[in-house]
Amino acid sequence: MQVEFLKSLISAIPTPVVMIGRDEKVITLNEKAVELFGQGLIGRSYITVLRQPAILDAVEGVFSTGQPRDARFFGSEAGRETTFAVRCSPVIGDGEAAVLVALEDTTHLEELGQMRRDFVANVSHELKTPLTALLGFIETLRGAARDDSAARDRFLGIMEREATRMNRLVRDLLSLSRVEGEERMRPNERVDVAAIIGSAVDTLRPMAEDRGGRLTLATTTDPVWVQGDPDQLMQVMTNLIDNAIKYGRSDQTITVAVQVSPREPSLRGPAVRIEVRDQGDGIDPLHIPRLTERFYRVDNHRSREMGGTGLGLAIVKHIISRHRGRMRVDSEKGKGSCFTVLLPVDQAPIARQPAGPAAR
Ligand SMILES: Nc1ncnc2c1ncn2[C@@H]1O[C@H](COP(=O)(O)OP(=O)(O)OP(=O)(O)O)[C@@H](O)[C@H]1O
Ligand SMILES: [Mg+2]
Repeated sequence: MQVEFLKSLISAIPTPVVMIGRDEKVITLNEKAVELFGQGLIGRSYITVLRQPAILDAVEGVFSTGQPRDARFFGSEAGRETTFAVRCSPVIGDGEAAVLVALEDTTHLEELGQMRRDFVANVSHELKTPLTALLGFIETLRGAARDDSAARDRFLGIMEREATRMNRLVRDLLSLSRVEGEERMRPNERVDVAAIIGSAVDTLRPMAEDRGGRLTLATTTDPVWVQGDPDQLMQVMTNLIDNAIKYGRSDQTITVAVQVSPREPSLRGPAVRIEVRDQGDGIDPLHIPRLTERFYRVDNHRSREMGGTGLGLAIVKHIISRHRGRMRVDSEKGKGSCFTVLLPVDQAPIARQPAGPAAR
């Protein structure tokens, strides 16, 4: 076998590859395999190099049967568990036999599978709680509280709340799955986002005032055009203002501000900056990066009491990403939080204006 040719061939492969000779010693391995198994392994027995029983059995199987075998290899890299799919294949040349062990990093697939399992567990848990309560009350209404009309009214009230909660959860899940599915399709309708924000503020103002607070809007009266989906933009505003009301102080002022910036560095162009600022307890910096994860709640008990499912910001994140925008969260414990959304402004009307700085 032409060892030099083999070595250069194997070093050109971008995934980890180890070649083992008939004498059960490592003939060669590429840079990626060195990262995984270590230095100075050429000439060593494959048993001390590959170590894990599943992969050793596979190599042995290839030597004894001449047929390819698959296995899995578990490693760790920078404190993170990694998984590799391993294919061990016979290689025959010039009367010599060898085994080629090729590894493919499948960690991202494993993580995806884990995320899916966590998601199903979370959904089941969220549905199970109200469902258990409903079943419990049905049983009580059939038995002990059968002829107690006061208890019946009270229980029916609770049952309605629990059923509404399940309904909301299912609606939010459907909404999340729809926005996730559409995320790569940029909306092509031209919409006035300032008008949408105005209408979201008008709709939610009574809710803020019911809690003894105020909701104010600082914006120009001019339209601000973006390429967007009006229902989804309405949902973003509703979710952010709803959070500001729910997690803010009761006598607070919530400010929604809209500003157009001719050049927003993070979007490399003109953008509209929408801020929703509350005067609540604020959010610990530890939690901020995780707020947009599905079902993530800082204070589980409080959010649940408010009827929250922890899906609101996950939906917001996907909608903003579909609109090619960005979201930022600034918060100071004890002072309040500010959720900033940046959306690219539709440049069409600007381009029609005569020359000037805005015409770029
Ligand atoms: N303005 C805010 N101030 C303080 N904490 C907030 C604020 N907005 C969100 N959070 C925290 O982030 C968590 C996630 O928010 P998200 O909107 O995704 O879920 P939720 O409000 O619990 O439920 P849902 O929006 O589905 O009703 C909340 O549970 C809350 O702990
Ligand atoms: Mg919310």
